[in-house]
Amino acid sequence: MKNCRLIEFHRIGSTDVGYLTPLEGNKNIPFDIKRVYYIYDVPTEIPRGFHAHRKLEQVLFCLQGSVRVKVEDGEKTDVIPLDAPHKGLYVGPMVWHEMFDFEENTVMMVLASDYYEEKDYIRDYEEFNELLNTDII
Ligand code: TYD
Repeated sequence: MKNCRLIEFHRIGSTDVGYLTPLEGNKNIPFDIKRVYYIYDVPTEIPRGFHAHRKLEQVLFCLQGSVRVKVEDGEKTDVIPLDAPHKGLYVGPMVWHEMFDFEENTVMMVLASDYYEEKDYIRDYEEFNELLNTDII
């Protein structure tokens, strides 16, 4: 999907000593990292997200537990399981995303290309689809 893809990061180590996954802005993370936030203690029946961003780029990780992420770009819909700390889901501009099926004790970490800005959010699904259509030349 354009603007959305699963990235497999390096896992340095072994089952004997454990693993380390390094993340570097503008290297294996495809933008300058300006913000990091966590999502945790989410009740298993609660879905989150339900928005797209106009410009923001993010990489979503599941550091502990597992979650599924539904992504939609107007042409395609996918459900991507995040179930290991070395997997990151790149979500660029104009991708509607919903996180659901949070396993108990799941901890997500999100790296973002910019500071929090509510104006960058599209929280209305109808508006999201209208904006996609107006972007088509
Ligand atoms: P939101 O992005 O809607 O969460 P989710 O996609 O996980 O459902 O954010 C929830 C609330 O937190 C909302 O009031 C905005 C606020 N918030 C910040 O203040 N700073 C941030 O960096 C983020 C991501 C959210």
